[in-house]
Amino acid sequence: MKQILILYFSGVGNTKYVAECMYSSIKKQCTVDIKSIEEIDISFDLSQYNKIVLGTSTIHSEPAKPMKDFLKAINRLEKPVPAFIYATYGLYPENVLRVFADLCIAKNIVPVCYSGYRCSATDGILLVPAINFFAKNEKNINKKVERDINEFIKEDKADFNKPEYKWYGLLNYPNKWIGQHFHFKIYLHKKYCAGCNKCVVHCPMGAIKRDHLGYPAIDRQKCINCYRCIHNCPYMALSLFRKKRHKKTIKYKKQRFLDER
Ligand SMILES: Cc1cc2nc3c(=O)[nH]c(=O)nc-3n(C[C@H](O)[C@H](O)[C@H](O)COP(=O)(O)O)c2cc1C
Repeated sequence: MKQILILYFSGVGNTKYVAECMYSSIKKQCTVDIKSIEEIDISFDLSQYNKIVLGTSTIHSEPAKPMKDFLKAINRLEKPVPAFIYATYGLYPENVLRVFADLCIAKNIVPVCYSGYRCSATDGILLVPAINFFAKNEKNINKKVERDINEFIKEDKADFNKPEYKWYGLLNYPNKWIGQHFHFKIYLHKKYCAGCNKCVVHCPMGAIKRDHLGYPAIDRQKCINCYRCIHNCPYMALSLFRKKRHKKTIKYKKQRFLDER
């Protein structure tokens, strides 16, 4: 039997970064596999592992849609498997871990440990780039991740450890409501598009195709607003604003506008 599986969904890379920190920290101590849910399908056998780590980004106060859909679609495991669940978030995680824990427990994946990590805000950095706080991870994030994961692999707890209810989660209801009722459009500034295909290749939902002129066309029904396409465009040709391009993104923080194009 294999020992540990680290399974995550990451829109832009923060949740992946945390997963990779965990992987490097535990690979010398036990057998560990690391996978994004984009690499597997619902027939993947989770019961071959002794313990599971599940990670997701926070999107409008909920676990990211691909992670929710995955957990809803898989079969319930015959035997309970202890899990460590984590969420990365840009501002504060409030009750996202409770929702995540409920989805896991329904499938006999039993959260015995949980944690949240404040990372760069993949939405905030686009909407309010002047606030530097949105571009940074919390201090000493690597050490916190290492400490948490080591605790999980050493401990032999088997009891469900549900994250506490946080009353201030109520403050996030407007945010949740926006996420449920609005779908932000992503605009293409054609003049700057080099047809490099990065947005098409990176989209986790296969929501971007190239039109007959070679420009990316986004299927809004499939788009989950993870903004991976915007952050991966080297020319900053994709934007949340119709008339304005973003000045910095997470992958291309130092890139200047390529206005001469
Ligand atoms: C559409 C969208 C909605 C978000 N909603 C929240 C939120 O409600 N609360 C929060 O703290 N962070 C929120 N974030 C920030 C992300 O949770 C955070 O940046 C996370 O680390 C992204 O991880 P990833 O790079 O693995 O996708 C949101 C990001 C996006 C793109």
